[in-house]
Amino acid sequence: MIALQLLQMDILKEKMKQDDRYTLATGELGAHRLSILNKVHKPYTEFLLQRVGLEAGMVVADIGCGTGNVSNWLAQQVGDNGSVFGVDISAEQLEQARKNAKVEGLSNVTFSLGSAYATGLPLESFDLVYCRFLLMHLTQPTDALNQMQSLLKPGGILVCEEADFSCTFCDPPSRAYERCFELFMTISDIRGQHFRLGATLYRFFMDVGLANSEVCLFQPVVLHQDNKRLIDLSLFEAVDALIEAGITTPQEIDQTITQIRALAADEKTVFGIPRVTQVWARK
Ligand SMILES: C[S@@+](CC[C@H](N)C(=O)[O-])C[C@H]1O[C@@H](n2cnc3c(N)ncnc32)[C@H](O)[C@@H]1O
Repeated sequence: MIALQLLQMDILKEKMKQDDRYTLATGELGAHRLSILNKVHKPYTEFLLQRVGLEAGMVVADIGCGTGNVSNWLAQQVGDNGSVFGVDISAEQLEQARKNAKVEGLSNVTFSLGSAYATGLPLESFDLVYCRFLLMHLTQPTDALNQMQSLLKPGGILVCEEADFSCTFCDPPSRAYERCFELFMTISDIRGQHFRLGATLYRFFMDVGLANSEVCLFQPVVLHQDNKRLIDLSLFEAVDALIEAGITTPQEIDQTITQIRALAADEKTVFGIPRVTQVWARK
């Protein structure tokens, strides 16, 4: 039985290696962009987690935790009687996450290397399992949801936030801004990933047997130059993947980035960044 489980885990890991390539940068290079992303999304994430019942003393897992921005906030919320476990496929991300936790003086958060398909965390042990902008990068999001669900204690809560790159806008309208998201959606389609994870996320929850799910969709809007840089920095990080896929040229990327930076610097321009789908359910 144990041998069979180990074999299944190896098959899952192999599938992951073949299909799921993260499109953006990791480690120090990606940390700045993720800190902007966190600044923009933090209020919505915190509101959601408080709304679903995050409490002091809980044992929480953050899957695809990146540089630990949410994990470290969760650790503060659950306090000394609770604990947080962050898992990511990238050792570089985890190095940044550990550094940040140290700076914040947190002793109740642990970061470990693992795949969303095989986290290595103990089954049926968590009060809350969370992920943000993870499933969209995976080719088999329901396999990952199944794994996340299996980590929950009976009555525990699964909470996911994902982005839909087909729901964005810029005012005044900009072809460069539109092109940027076209490129992201094309690379996601080529790789079999899910950069349009909108209302479908609810169906994925149903598919893994979470029949009592709740859904909230919202459209984040970014006005300030520093936060608007999220878009051109993301495009910059994806350059290698986009060029390797043959869907753009270095010249087009240069022009698109330059134009989006100019829009970001214009105080009158509004960026409607990818719509967010939040889904949660109790096991
Ligand atoms: C967009 S980042 C989001 C990070 C973090 N959740 C946040 O909101 O700040 C996505 C993260 O998922 C991680 N990731 C990608 N594929 C993964 C997989 N199969 N298993 C675990 N983590 C994965 C990446 O390394 C990256 O850190």
